[in-house]
Amino acid sequence: SVNLEGRSFLTLKDFNAEEIKPILWVSADLKHRIKHRGEYVPLLQGKSIAMIFEKRSTRTRMATETGFSLLGGHPCFLTPQDIHLGVNESTTDTARVLSGLADVVLARVYSHSSLEHLDIDASIPVINGLSDLYHPIQVLADLSTLQEHYGSLKGLTLAWIGDGNNVLHSFMMSLAKLGVNLKVATPKGYEPDANVTQEAQLLSKQFGTKLQFLMDPMEAARHSSVLVTDTWVSMGQEEEKKKRLKDFHGYQITMQTGSVAAPDWTFLHCLPRKAEEVDDEVFYSPRSLVFTEAENHKWTIMGLMVCILTDYTPQIPKLKF
Ligand code: CP
Ligand code: NVA
Repeated sequence: SVNLEGRSFLTLKDFNAEEIKPILWVSADLKHRIKHRGEYVPLLQGKSIAMIFEKRSTRTRMATETGFSLLGGHPCFLTPQDIHLGVNESTTDTARVLSGLADVVLARVYSHSSLEHLDIDASIPVINGLSDLYHPIQVLADLSTLQEHYGSLKGLTLAWIGDGNNVLHSFMMSLAKLGVNLKVATPKGYEPDANVTQEAQLLSKQFGTKLQFLMDPMEAARHSSVLVTDTWVSMGQEEEKKKRLKDFHGYQITMQTGSVAAPDWTFLHCLPRKAEEVDDEVFYSPRSLVFTEAENHKWTIMGLMVCILTDYTPQIPKLKF
């Protein structure tokens, strides 16, 4: 069996299919045992997590705080206003100190390189809670939601319609490994990062999945099972809002977009959501899995923590991928 103990989780680029699957399996197992069977499963008793947030968060914060506590551990929420991060103390010193005081760090940062620095200087695992480049824990929640809904992942086609951002980058680093095809439609100038694109092309070749970069949202949606979007204005891009709303004109997901999708189509959005990228009719429809997706943040973060901090073996049968 695969052992992930002690591993950092900065990007899904570093994780192969045989490492991603056990995380999703443990997540589903914890959901089953705790939510459905009402068990107390104190796998993280005596452990602490330092949560550093340079940006705001509802889901990631709540999922991590409540999930870590539910497993018997102790979460500490820290913002740059609370701790000496890079202001009154070097990141190196903070990382070394946290390594003695906690068992794992989860950090939400502006620059992905801050996570890499933290990871070099810390002797405990570092989890990416969102950076400018990636949002891998989001994609764990999304994969588990799709696995639950469709019963497996292999052969699905996901259409990303909107901004070539951090969430898309994490999909690009993982979908091919699980046999999922990807169609991306972005306006000109909002394509995903060139290095991430190159890596995704290698992965799709290696795993024999389809990968397409388009501009037309309808072409991306055609025959796809999963329509996905995200805000057009990510945290830190607020001053570009006016230009972005103009440049993304025509990219809103509506029932018309869905009309060309596969008969079993569903909708995902990491949230927080604005109406410009998806209208209410789709967002609040039975097609929309967004609230399960938000809840699954909790079970997947718990699954990730358990894989990184313990040698737990799930009780439920292996999932089908
Ligand atoms: N989807 C997500 O990461 O949400 P938060 O910004 O609320 O954590
Ligand atoms: N792309 C968004 C995701 C928020 C969870 C952002 O970075 O703000």
